[in-house]
Amino acid sequence: MTRGLPAGRIGPTEGAVDLPPDDTGEAIGLSASGLTITFGFGPALFRDARGRDRFGIADRQPEALRTLPHFPADVLDPERSYGDLCVQACADDPQVAVHAIRNLARIGFGTVAVRWSQLGFGRTSTTSTSQSTPRNLFGFKDGTANVKAEETSDVAQHVWVADGDDAKAAWLAGGSYLVARRFNMNIEIWDRQSLGDQEDFIGRTKASGAPLSGGTEFTEPDFSMPGSDGPVIPRDAHVRVVHPDFNDGVRMLRRGYNFVDGSDPLGGLNAGLFFIAFMRNPDTQFIPVQNRMAKVDALMEYVKVTGSALFAVPPGIGAGEYVGQALFA
Ligand code: HEM
Repeated sequence: MTRGLPAGRIGPTEGAVDLPPDDTGEAIGLSASGLTITFGFGPALFRDARGRDRFGIADRQPEALRTLPHFPADVLDPERSYGDLCVQACADDPQVAVHAIRNLARIGFGTVAVRWSQLGFGRTSTTSTSQSTPRNLFGFKDGTANVKAEETSDVAQHVWVADGDDAKAAWLAGGSYLVARRFNMNIEIWDRQSLGDQEDFIGRTKASGAPLSGGTEFTEPDFSMPGSDGPVIPRDAHVRVVHPDFNDGVRMLRRGYNFVDGSDPLGGLNAGLFFIAFMRNPDTQFIPVQNRMAKVDALMEYVKVTGSALFAVPPGIGAGEYVGQALFA
């Protein structure tokens, strides 16, 4: 499918008329559209709720692969959280991404079942200096200070699990952890805040994404610059709260999507940011930063977290290998 080919060997319309096709057909005529598929393993793949070894791999469970703790503002829907396996399909055309997920779920019928899924659009973060920064549904540029592919030493330090990081989980070296968090935005309340307040909550201007301390989008914020009432980048501004300077130098690769899942019974949009981030160790990266954010970040008044999951993503595969081979072999 990542080469633009059908899911099965026969194809959507070439097989016997009295059998279900081995491809569902909605991608006929579409290109591969940059399709990538990322697999992850959740803590429950290794041990069930009672801690029992489900598939004889419990001794290889990575140390940091545990259910994420409860954070303030978490109102998790268990039906949008957790899971044994994660399958993420990304493509320039949502039809191609949905086709991939649908066909993998169809092929897995009887062995696996879909627990939950989320369709997103308009990736919210740049991950390369060659991309222009997209916007999230609060209307702000998102990804300005993200870890970029070109920052190879930061990618190595903050994104990939290294040899020797976890003696029990050598199979994960070269992989990463994927944190998924469904942030519902209180869109209608946000939209009634003044432009100045919105910019104070983020700590950057809405137009260019420059820090409130001045300059252009990629100017480093000056957190000590005084304003008329405290620092010009407020103490509870998102970019200050999550900035590496206030979080032991920690960074992570954010790679989320916007989502809109229709409207609620009051006519409000059921929408937000499906936050996805990749990192070397959630215990030292995501968990402390999310805790700090949940306690002091001005944004928290405008969001609630309704879904949450953590997965260990094995390294990419070479020709003739299967996903997670080093774990299962
Ligand atoms: C609805 C939820 C969120 C929204 C709307 C949001 C929005 C933003 C925006 C607009 C920026 C500034 C531009 C940029 O550098 O990308 C930013 C930066 C950042 N965000 Fe978030 N964010 C959200 C959740 C989170 C979460 C859950 C985390 C991690 C726990 C996080 C971590 C970061 C980091 C590390 C930066 C870069 C800070 C820096 O180095 O300057 N964000 N976010």
